[in-house]
Amino acid sequence: MPVHDNLSAPEVIANPYPYFHQLREEDPVHWNEWWGGWVLTRHDDVQASFQDRRLSADRMSPFLKGLAKEASGDLHPSFRLFAKWMVFTDPPVHTRLRMLVNKAFTPRRVEGLRTRIQAVVDEMLDRLMPAGRMELIHDFAYLLPVTVIAELLGVPATDHENIKNWSDEITLFIFGAIGVPDRRQRAQRAMSELAGYLQAIITERRDAPQDDLISALIAAQEQDDALSDEEIVATCSLVLFGGHETTTNLISSSTHALLRNPAQMEKLRNDPTLIGTAVEEFLRYDGPSKAMVRIGGEDFELRGKPIKKGQRLLLLQSAANHDPERFDNPDDLDVTRAPNPHVAFGYGIHFCLGAPLARIETAVTINTLLRRLPNLRLDVDPGQLEWQPQIVSRALKALPVAF
Ligand code: HEM
Repeated sequence: MPVHDNLSAPEVIANPYPYFHQLREEDPVHWNEWWGGWVLTRHDDVQASFQDRRLSADRMSPFLKGLAKEASGDLHPSFRLFAKWMVFTDPPVHTRLRMLVNKAFTPRRVEGLRTRIQAVVDEMLDRLMPAGRMELIHDFAYLLPVTVIAELLGVPATDHENIKNWSDEITLFIFGAIGVPDRRQRAQRAMSELAGYLQAIITERRDAPQDDLISALIAAQEQDDALSDEEIVATCSLVLFGGHETTTNLISSSTHALLRNPAQMEKLRNDPTLIGTAVEEFLRYDGPSKAMVRIGGEDFELRGKPIKKGQRLLLLQSAANHDPERFDNPDDLDVTRAPNPHVAFGYGIHFCLGAPLARIETAVTINTLLRRLPNLRLDVDPGQLEWQPQIVSRALKALPVAF
């Protein structure tokens, strides 16, 4: 049977891996009529495409042009901020932004959060444990990343409800735009409010710097070059957005992976020092970023297929991470797997800025759950679990657990 093109068919959303295997075997560089672009599934092709200078990361400009046409006029200025997100820029603009941000987002700053992360996880569990059950995502997993990102940036934790709401509206726009008729207005409102909120904090920090990321971004200078306020606002909104939903999804998918693989769960519980390889395996096995989009910057051939300038390419990270040419028994969870060259954080110049933070948050959370909840179990029939109907991200809707 020829492979179908519906990337959001219910069975593909529920379990994409059999479909991805079929695609990789039958047509690894596949023109998907339904999505309107090329779909890449082999590990070597996906990894190489992340580094391919013939491809552009700027998938936002064409999208905004389409929206402007739909709105029959100019878009609100707040949309300009999305185009300034470094993840949507190519060199040399990307090189400059990433170098400046790297100066502020240092390993020391991230490692310094470990004790605080442990304290937040413990406080949340102290509160949740007496009930004996929870819905892991909404009661627990979403609170940690938003709290940590707020503290890292230096915005008051009391504002995290607002931050979560803005981030959710932006997520709808970036990931789930289809089928939400007022997505543009909602994203515009969220981005304007978030930008105003961040701008006020930036103005405060210019006068009175503190030990936080916003102050560090203000101070970051490279060859007499500094970030403009608009670039700082764009970068902070990207960090807020990028560091929030993805990490929540990794915590829930890791917990789910262990609950469905009890022998691996026991192995990790008995030897918490395995957490380093385990987190890499959670990222590979069922990571939160299923795919990233690139745009052809020129005409060229890939495995004999004609890629044209302006066409979209979907780099299916989750398919690459289950490629049997690269991973033995790719559909098995193995918390000791090493080496593990997954591409869950991307590859090359756009490699995830927040990877070290996401790794610490997940490692601390999973080891603490295993240590403090010895009887952790699913509180629902596995067949009833549902995932968000999104093409590029993999996110459980809810994960009820008992302990
Ligand atoms: C498990 C959690 C996470 C996953 C799976 C993830 C995934 C990714 C991926 C795949 C990219 C590459 C994008 C591309 O090539 O177009 C990326 C970039 C990025 N991520 Fe993450 N991310 C996670 C957590 C975080 C966190 C915690 C932060 C911030 C604190 C963050 C901030 C960013 C930023 C700023 C970029 C853009 C880097 C650039 O363009 O140079 N991410 N992430």
